[in-house]
Amino acid sequence: MEKLLKKYPNLHVIEHPLVQHKLTFIRDKYTNKKDFKELVDEVGVFLACELTKDFPLTEVEVETPLMKAKSKILAGKKPVLVPILRAGVGMLDGFLKIMPSARIGHIGMARNEETFKPATYYFKLPVDSTERTIILIDPMLATGGSAVAAAGKLKSIGVKKIKFMCLISAPEGIEKMCSAHPDIDVYTASIDEKLDENAYIVPGLGDAGDRLCGTKPNPKIPPMGVNFFDE
Ligand code: PRP
Ligand code: URA
Repeated sequence: MEKLLKKYPNLHVIEHPLVQHKLTFIRDKYTNKKDFKELVDEVGVFLACELTKDFPLTEVEVETPLMKAKSKILAGKKPVLVPILRAGVGMLDGFLKIMPSARIGHIGMARNEETFKPATYYFKLPVDSTERTIILIDPMLATGGSAVAAAGKLKSIGVKKIKFMCLISAPEGIEKMCSAHPDIDVYTASIDEKLDENAYIVPGLGDAGDRLCGTKPNPKIPPMGVNFFDE
């Protein structure tokens, strides 16, 4: 990780103890769908705080119950949050908790399970997105194919400022994304060991989309706690 951080000034790893704590339960295969989503939202708040750290401010006057005072508010247009479907949508709520007025766009991308290459199936952004900062969101940066292609697509329509946030990344994905788009700041809560033969991140968390949507429940896993939505 140190090597990657040195090589790519656009890489940011969020090592806050609470993030690392929550990540452990996110990784746990016995964490049920409800808790998984809540934990992803909670980590999303930390990532969002870090990612917005350099957002510009402007001074305004405010009237407190005691007097007039100079204070600061965010300058410029609201950013556009762009989750990569499906799993990225599961990471949207954490960000919206601290910035509820952010705009929202969607990029639909699915990785071919044999070639691991991403294919775009949906693309819809607010009309003035090229004048705003785009925050691309996907919990998993594995080979990096999806994130690199999504960022390329955004640039091709004229977007100038992009940031990318994910929960877990593989060194391969970091290399690919940070070198293909050195102008894009990449925020991640973990750089894991490697990719396996199916291009899954190990140790990782499994399939983020399936765990967020409950599309592939594992019958071998005993239910932990009460979760009516798992039925
Ligand atoms: C997953 C994940 C990323 C992509 C990462 O999505 O959410 O979008 O794979 O892999 P990459 O870095 O190798 O491109 P998937 O294609 O499984 O779709 P889903 O979100 O609908 O489950
Ligand atoms: N997509 C996932 O959901 N998990 C991985 O480990 C890799 C890609």
